[in-house]
Parts: sequence; C-alpha cells; structure tokens
Amino acid sequence: MPRRLFGSFVEHLGRCVYTGLYEPGHPTADPDGFRRDVLALVRELGVTTVRYPGGNFVSSYRWEDGVGPVDQRPARLDLAWHSLETNQFGLDEFMRWVDKADVDPIMAVNLGTRGTADAVDLLEYANHRGGSHLADRRRDNGAADPYGIKLWCLGNEMDGPWQVGQRSATEYGRLASQTAKAMRRFDPDLELVACGSSHLGMPTFGSWERDVLTEAYDDVDLISLHAYYQPVDDDLPSFLASAEEMDRYIDAVTAIADSVGAIRRSTKKIMIAFDEWNVWYQSAAPSTPPSGEDWPIAPPLLEDHYSVADAVVVGGLLISLLRHSDRVTAACQAQLVNVIAPIMTEPGGPAWRQTIFHPFARTARHARGAVLDVLRDGGTTSTDRFGEIDAVDAVSTWDDSTGEMTVFLVNRVVTTPAEVTVDVTGARLAGIIECVTVGGTDLHAKNTADGPDHAEPRPNGTAHSADTSVQLTLPPASWTMLRLRATDVTP
Ligand code: AHR
Repeated sequence: MPRRLFGSFVEHLGRCVYTGLYEPGHPTADPDGFRRDVLALVRELGVTTVRYPGGNFVSSYRWEDGVGPVDQRPARLDLAWHSLETNQFGLDEFMRWVDKADVDPIMAVNLGTRGTADAVDLLEYANHRGGSHLADRRRDNGAADPYGIKLWCLGNEMDGPWQVGQRSATEYGRLASQTAKAMRRFDPDLELVACGSSHLGMPTFGSWERDVLTEAYDDVDLISLHAYYQPVDDDLPSFLASAEEMDRYIDAVTAIADSVGAIRRSTKKIMIAFDEWNVWYQSAAPSTPPSGEDWPIAPPLLEDHYSVADAVVVGGLLISLLRHSDRVTAACQAQLVNVIAPIMTEPGGPAWRQTIFHPFARTARHARGAVLDVLRDGGTTSTDRFGEIDAVDAVSTWDDSTGEMTVFLVNRVVTTPAEVTVDVTGARLAGIIECVTVGGTDLHAKNTADGPDHAEPRPNGTAHSADTSVQLTLPPASWTMLRLRATDVTP
C-alpha cells in the first residue's frame, strides 16, 4: 500500500504557514522560525508527504519571490485569498521544514498566470545539482544539495472559475502536456499530476478528465481529485456515509482514465492523486476571503472547528482511500495547520489536536503492508443521499513483517450499535493487540486549546476473539480500529 496515502497539504492561505508552522518569536520556535510544538504534532500525526505551496494560491505565485535574502523579498498581493504575501517563508524554508518534519515534498507549479518556462525554472532551481544559473542560486541561498523533488502537480483546479488563469480542458491539457514534456527533458523519472475536476459537482466533470487526458495521457502519471464533505441540511446519516461519494468519485475517474487509455490502445494506467480531501464547512462565514482595500497578512481563514462526528467521517474517508489504494497512489488531507486542519495553533500560544487528528494518526500508524479484500455481508442502512448502503464500512491491512492485521470499521447508523463478526477464515488469530473507538457519544463535541480531547480513541472492551474470528460491538456513529496478531494470512 502506498505510504503516500497519508499525505497532507500546506498552502499560503490564512494562518497555515504564518503563525501555523512558521512563527519566529514563538516560545517554541527553532532557529529557522519553525514551531517545534507543531513539528511534534506533525510527526505524531504520521504525515508522509506534504503538498506545497497551493492550492489556489499557486496560480498567481512567483516562486522566486520566496527565495534569497529574506529582507530583500517583495511583499505581493495574493489574488487567490485577497491577502498580503510577505514571502518570508518560501521554497528553501519549506524544504528545511520538510526535512525536520521527516516528510516528502509534493511541489505544485503555477500554470495559471505562468507556464512551462517558469515550471522548468523552478525545477532547475530545486533539483539541479549546480553549475547552472538557477541551481547556483539555490546553492548561494544555502542549499548545496539538490532537493530531488519527485512528485509535481501541474497547476491547481484549472477548471474552476475562481482560479486565477482558469482554462478550458483542451487548453489546459495541451499546457500540461507541453510542461510535462519539458520537465521530463530534465528528469524522465519525475511523477507528474494533471489537474482533474475541482470536484465531482463541477458541470464539466467527466468531460474535463477525458479531454485533459486526451491531450496529456502519455505525459502524466496521475490525475488529481479534490473533494470536501459537510453535512447537508443536518442530514447526519448521509454525512457519516461520505465515503460512499468518495468511492463513487474514484471509481468514475478511474473508469474515465481507463477509457481514454483503451481508445489509445495504451497499456499504461493513470493513477489517482486525491490531493485535497477533508471535511470542510464551506458555507461557514470565515471561508470568505477579505475584500476591498484590505489586504491583511495571514488572516484567520477557513478555521473550521471539528466535531466528533467529523472525526468519524474522516476515519471513513481513509477507509475509502485504502480500499482504492491499487489506483489512489497519493492523497493529501487538506490542510495541515489552522486551515481546515487537524492541528490548530494560537499565535504565541499553544498548538493542539482537533478531533479529526485521531483517526488520521491511528490509520497512518497502523495501516501497513497489503490492503486485504473485505467481504461485507450484513445489515444495511438507508440514507437520503446514497440510498441503501452497508451499515458498517470496513477495510483491512496485513503487515507480513510484523504479523499484524488491522481492521478499520465505521458504523454509519446513527441510532443503533452494530454487532460485528470479523471473520479471518483461512488465517489464524493469535490474539487482539488493541481495539479502540472514536465516537458513539458526544457527536457534536469539539476540542479547544484547553481540552478535553474529545475524539481521543478509547479502548473498546467488547472485542473477543476465537480461532478465526473476532466479535465486537461498534457504538452508533463511530470509527473503530481493531489490531490483531494473525498467522497464515494469504493476501
Ligand atoms: O484547500 C483550500 C482550497 O480548496 C484550495 O486552495 C483549493 O485548491 C481548493 O478549492
């Protein structure tokens, strides 16, 4: 299973960078100005990759503003979020942060106001060892070794009317193809992501993917999906089943990509980068950027405060990603700090875990090895948005090297517990390592800087094992992780 499924996203948006991961003068700041309290939480979260620098921000960003002596960097208007970008944090700071956080970078290039020339300039600056103008600038700026960034996003949400430099599918597909070809002249082994639709509800969904891939199929490796979920009309049962929509979205884009491949008689398969996903209350007022004369620096934007129910949904979305890990080979929860994020900070104050932190951290830590087929055979529940669906969703992983099998489950029924039998026929169980649950009670509770930590996984004492099965009870509206010691498993 690709460890890149547990990626995150850092955009120059609101307080994600400034007073999020970067705050010189903060009591925990290291000599680079990085908050050590945030770095510790990022490590605990188990994030494997981080996409940067946007998002909508990238579509009018000049990467070179953010490198070189800090006191000479220009302040610029950020047209995406109507903010003032001070450029105190840029590529070289990000790469130093990535190193300290022990994650791999995913870099996005600006195909909104810019194009192929700037993308290859950025690539030269980042990845060329030296002896050319831009690589030597990086070296002068303190980074002797090339960064070796492998995964690159060719623009962001280029179908969206909100995007600076929005394009038609064919225009964008040609630009992506041309940019990919140029970047591959430098390094044929780069992994390149073309923009898919901004979300499943876009009027051009489907035809966009088809037309972009018709232009760029041979030049790119992955296509992006973005999706944000929130309850509609307080419909909690449908919200808890958001993974159904994620499943359908992934299946649809896979089918479209494969149909383009089939028409081309290509043996190549396009993979999926689900490089923005999360719960996001988009209807909430703080999502609206400032306007008019006011161009604030790092204003609080998109600072959603998550409930226990949101944590259960995030656990369910991770189940969907794992289930599709044969095609979804990269994913990024959006975003990492303060902006629709599992980690929150107060400027000058503490950093703390939101409810959604917990299912992500546990899944990232324990979903290892191969993803197993899970045959779901049981009760169903009725939802307004998705019709009759399985009451319990589940996926399992098996780590040959440790003999650990982990089962992730969500009971999507709001009113009743689910009695579950996890049957591992064909394998032998040597015991239960751990069984923990999030949810079931206090679904509307949210965390604050002062605690308590509402969605902290609590032991689920109902799990009892026999030779080849485990019985357990899942509380209503809950996420559970069951870790087993197993032998004789055939993935
Ligand atoms: O993650 C917030 C924003 O959502 C991103 O900038 C954009 O890509 C998406 O629409």
